[in-house]
Amino acid sequence: MTTSAEIMERYRQVMFPAAAPYHGDAPLIADRAKDQYIWDVDGKRYLDFFGGILTVSVGHCNDEISERTMAQLRKLQHTSTIYVNESMVRLAEKVAELTPGRLQKCFFTNSGTEANETAVLAARMYTGNPIIITLRHAYSGRSMLAMSLSAQGPWRLGGVVDPYVRHARNPYTFRAPAGMSAEQVVDLCVADLEETIATATEGRIAAFMAEPIQGAGGFIVPPEDYFQRILPIVRAAGGVFISDEVQTGWGRTGGKWFGIEQWGVEPDIMTFAKGMGNGSPIGCTIATPEIADAVAGLTFSTFGGNPVTMATTLATIEYMEAHDTPTNCQVQGESMAEKLAEFAAEFPIIGEARGMGLMQALEIVQPGGIEPDAARTVAFVDACKKKGLLLGKGGLYGNAVRIAPHLNVSAEDMDVAMDIIAGALAEVS
Ligand SMILES: Cc1ncc(COP(=O)(O)O)c(C=O)c1O
Repeated sequence: MTTSAEIMERYRQVMFPAAAPYHGDAPLIADRAKDQYIWDVDGKRYLDFFGGILTVSVGHCNDEISERTMAQLRKLQHTSTIYVNESMVRLAEKVAELTPGRLQKCFFTNSGTEANETAVLAARMYTGNPIIITLRHAYSGRSMLAMSLSAQGPWRLGGVVDPYVRHARNPYTFRAPAGMSAEQVVDLCVADLEETIATATEGRIAAFMAEPIQGAGGFIVPPEDYFQRILPIVRAAGGVFISDEVQTGWGRTGGKWFGIEQWGVEPDIMTFAKGMGNGSPIGCTIATPEIADAVAGLTFSTFGGNPVTMATTLATIEYMEAHDTPTNCQVQGESMAEKLAEFAAEFPIIGEARGMGLMQALEIVQPGGIEPDAARTVAFVDACKKKGLLLGKGGLYGNAVRIAPHLNVSAEDMDVAMDIIAGALAEVS
């Protein structure tokens, strides 16, 4: 039998080291998975509370979805966008039905990066203006443009930046100047956006692009009125609003289908990937008809709209509807948030417990202060793995623990996970 050490030795010979796996010297070498569990090659079972980065949204190898994937695979596998297939049309109809406002026309690709590229292209062609404003601590993907849109140094590689991207202050209340209220943080962000437009642009922009809750940034939740205060400034400068729902989409934030619906504003463009397809590679950009129609000219994606991906994604969304996963996210999210608040009161290494729905984070700090403690964060996530629970990490300072179980997580699994988290917190405190 091949041992995990042998596989890792071979991995190091043939893979770029930059895609560093979690868990240092003992990375998880996945063998198989079913529903909430994943097994490594040594046969150890883990409860998965990160879902391949918020992507396995309704359980690994979900039988109902796999059936429909297989049926499509046997019928029609690939056409590219030069031929139409009905699966593509049915999925686009479903996305248009569930998304808010006037969002109506889709473009399918294979990843969140490409979905964001498409959104920026559409905004630029619609407005005739190249300037895009994103937020500090954003993560938008790994193409040259997407790395430019991103605003976390460690994720911006290669030294090439898009000259038309500007970054504004994000509403990171936990790390705002000492003593500032949430209201003052929003005031600061509003002033910063106004100043960015006045000083770093000619006064006109193509788009403001933001995640309703910053994901890779460490599940940073804005104050309730943040987007309502920001958007009038964006629109006054001629910009459209792109909501990057790659992490927050499809019920994750609880009670509603999309994160931006929590904040009472309407986007002109939305982007999706990750959990939309339960692990099949998809990117989707949806826009109002006039913005979509402005992308005049030739563009295509060989694998975008692939019938198998389309059928799998539609099956995933229909599964979410049939099992009302947005409500489960709300109920289980509230129960998790309560538990995490108790841990924050008990363990001084937790600077803040925050989140919404099944998107909850613990920011790990030097005991009693706010100094980020990345080493202890690694130790904590490793301790959870040893106890059979998989969690994520994130944040610019590497000190946010990201907890994002499947959208259909059960109360029993939530209890098991919370017990493991309590034990691991005690161990690393
Ligand atoms: C909010 C957000 N946008 C875009 C992306 C890029 O998606 P992908 O990795 O599928 O290209 C990510 C990936 O983590 C993300 O979190």
